[in-house]
Amino acid sequence: MRFRILHYKTLDSTNNLALQFARVDAREGAVIAADFQTQGRGRFKRRWISARGKGLLFSIILRPHLKASEAPILTHLAAQSVAEALKSSFNLEAKLKRPNDVLVKGKKIAGILTESSGSGSRLDYVVMGIGLNLNHRPKELLHSATSIYVETGKQADHKQVLAEILARFSEKYNRVSKSYKPTEKALKSLQHA
Ligand code: BTN
Repeated sequence: MRFRILHYKTLDSTNNLALQFARVDAREGAVIAADFQTQGRGRFKRRWISARGKGLLFSIILRPHLKASEAPILTHLAAQSVAEALKSSFNLEAKLKRPNDVLVKGKKIAGILTESSGSGSRLDYVVMGIGLNLNHRPKELLHSATSIYVETGKQADHKQVLAEILARFSEKYNRVSKSYKPTEKALKSLQHA
């Protein structure tokens, strides 16, 4: 997949803008990133709050060859990609908490919000929003959250981390979007995750 990154200083939510673009036929691989969101969203109408410039906040537009019921696999692939990037770039051991959280030492470091549209079993587009805590200090985080800076004492580079996640995600996505045939068991476990 070829990515095209559109970067904004402030948005209400990168998912909102990506959904708007997707509705008017934006190409797969468009990535909407922002330094700050005024209405960052999580699952179950929770808010995603991230101090300006401290976190990686982005959404990818996807048009996968998958059925609507198979969309949850994409959230899982994104979480895996984040965890792999944390390991390879920062030597952090991250664990996935299904369906959409990435944890380090039991604290949340990243969350994923996947939103999609289609009709019946057909999937038209998917917007995959990822928030990853990079350079937040403890006072800028909930007690249940952590950041790369808190865990390593090192400042992370937004562009580098984004590139690393996208490369890993792209490789997994290409395999799955073209050929994924989940077993009934895999589908059930994803639906109940
Ligand atoms: C969650 O933990 O429930 C998911 C959080 C997802 C947050 C990201 S930040 C980038 C994108 N834009 C949003 O409004 N939400 C996602």
